[in-house]
Amino acid sequence: MSTPPFEQFASWYEEARRHPGIADASAMALATADKAGRPAVRMVLLKQHDERGFVFFTHLTSPKARDLGETGRAALCFHWAPLGRQVRIDGMVTQVGDDEADAYFATRPRLSQLGAWASRQSQPMGHRFGLEASVARAGAKYVAGPVPRPPHWSGFRLAPEHMEFWREGAFRHHERALYTRTRDGWDHTWLYP
Ligand SMILES: Cc1cc2nc3c(=O)[nH]c(=O)nc-3n(C[C@H](O)[C@H](O)[C@H](O)COP(=O)(O)O)c2cc1C
Repeated sequence: MSTPPFEQFASWYEEARRHPGIADASAMALATADKAGRPAVRMVLLKQHDERGFVFFTHLTSPKARDLGETGRAALCFHWAPLGRQVRIDGMVTQVGDDEADAYFATRPRLSQLGAWASRQSQPMGHRFGLEASVARAGAKYVAGPVPRPPHWSGFRLAPEHMEFWREGAFRHHERALYTRTRDGWDHTWLYP
């Protein structure tokens, strides 16, 4: 395993995407903490990855976005069980540009777009059908033409400082390859499992 970490990730990710036993290879745990250090973790979907980092989209008024605003840091974890693989990534997070968020938002199904307008993510909803009622209102507002991206919905890009590739081994003799970003590239080291 000597390929640089982005190539390594791309290769493992493609294998995971093609694997019939993996329903959604893009699902990843996103860990954040608030300024008091209180951790939180939840699943999000990877929507883009390249040498600049790993992108997911969310509500800017959500607890996760608030954490990211407070610390600028996050960690990701993928687990592709049928392949016996885990990838851990951490680093600094920045909001993507409006053009990038607009471009991705435009690819979403219309009902998902209306859902982004309708949801006040992680706020109490009052009654069970609050979302449906809110989606219906958004649908009435944007009855014709494209649905614009709500200002409270965008993406974040995590630029990795560490990337660790874990491969399951027999008898728990797992293999762990850690890449650490340096000024001009990446350091590579093996870790005990
Ligand atoms: C498989 C899976 C994928 C998800 N993908 C996203 C996502 O891409 N963006 C998002 O905002 N929430 C996503 N969610 C919902 C989040 O896990 C979470 O419930 C929500 O974002 C609120 O998180 P917060 O209160 O910590 O901000 C996903 C949930 C699951 C189970």
